[in-house]
Amino acid sequence: MTSPTNLLIRHARIILPNGELMVGDVLTRDRVIVEVAPQISTLAEPIIEIDASGLTLLPGVIDPQVHFREPGLEYKENLFTASCACAKGGVTSFLEMPNTRPLTTTQQTLDDKLQRASQKCLVNYGFFIGATSENLPDILSAHPTPGIKIFMGSMHGQLLVDNEVTLEAIFSQGTRLIAVHAENQERINQRRLEFAGITDPAIHSQIQDNQAALEATQLALKLSQKYQRRLHILHMSTAEEAELLRQDKPSWVTCEVTPQHLLMNTSAYAKIGTLAQMNPPLRSPHDNEVLWQALRDGIIDFIATDHAPHTLEEKAQPYPKSPSGMPGVETSLALMLTAAKEGKCTIAQVVNWMSTAVAKAYGITNKGEIKAGYDADLVLVDLDNYRPVLRQELFSKCGWSPFEGWNLTGWAHTTIVGGQIVYQNGKLFTEIRGQALQFENS
Ligand code: DOR
Repeated sequence: MTSPTNLLIRHARIILPNGELMVGDVLTRDRVIVEVAPQISTLAEPIIEIDASGLTLLPGVIDPQVHFREPGLEYKENLFTASCACAKGGVTSFLEMPNTRPLTTTQQTLDDKLQRASQKCLVNYGFFIGATSENLPDILSAHPTPGIKIFMGSMHGQLLVDNEVTLEAIFSQGTRLIAVHAENQERINQRRLEFAGITDPAIHSQIQDNQAALEATQLALKLSQKYQRRLHILHMSTAEEAELLRQDKPSWVTCEVTPQHLLMNTSAYAKIGTLAQMNPPLRSPHDNEVLWQALRDGIIDFIATDHAPHTLEEKAQPYPKSPSGMPGVETSLALMLTAAKEGKCTIAQVVNWMSTAVAKAYGITNKGEIKAGYDADLVLVDLDNYRPVLRQELFSKCGWSPFEGWNLTGWAHTTIVGGQIVYQNGKLFTEIRGQALQFENS
């Protein structure tokens, strides 16, 4: 482990906490931002200066839903390769899901992940605890964790909790955040039988249809209302769910959307086949538009990638043998900043959705804003040049992206974790390590 250096970032276009842009300097010392000002005078102490003229400085991205496959599925990805991909993508913190082998359903398995991450992760990390029908004591006491993950659908084995009685037992006890993958498994099972034998991956969006997502979201909302339980709806994908929340969204409920559910739709199957297959599935262009509007209107609170890598060999199997999931941490910030440049939203909104609002929702203190006293997790992006997503440049172990060939701007130029440069101009500094995140309300 290296010790943090002091950094002076000069002449950056800084996105301030109020969303305004200021050209100026940022000084970091011992992992923390100590000054943000139009001009900081040269210091006597040893310091690394970065000339950020022409670059834009944002708080580092906090990706609140990723699957990094370690332990047990390291042939797809591991905490080192995934965190390298994060550093390249401007992601300085992540929250990871419990569907590893073994499942993260006990304090012991949570501690094991934290221990592995402390040795391997270039960026900051937190791990959800997974609910089963039998581990209520574990999910109530696990620490530190951003919350309890429930797969209401799209899962098999112990992590599938689709029975209303079990769900009610979980919602009724404790206060910590519950994050749900909301798809109705019973409906999916029925529709799998109806559409059996079809190998066109486009059928995936019909089997796991909008109605399956809506029904599970309705149930999660009902239970959350009944017990006033803090609820987070993961990767919301349909216009129907967005409209439901527009009508009535309790103050203790948050939800997220992925870049792929905003920017891709069912037309992707014809172009990239099973690489477009994920859960919940890609939807229609109408869903894209309604989700964008809900995001801009604050109905949807923030963005997550659901980075879920599988190997190309696995993906090459015919549907439905092909697994669901696509990688995302390397491309999410550039995708969203490109959308901002196209006028779909502002840069300040992207900062809020990918950093500030995530930190607030999960009670991650002192992150998500460029402000004195906050952690020096930062990313300098280049908003003037465009570069395509190229397979050979990816760090994710799975080695592919559903966005290959997309011409994007806003790529990370320099990524800083805890005051240390972890990525710059294509080069990783693999000796840097992130830290375990703490969660105020959990
Ligand atoms: O498509 C998906 N794949 N969605 C999920 O939520 C889980 C994931 C995986 O772990 O492969």
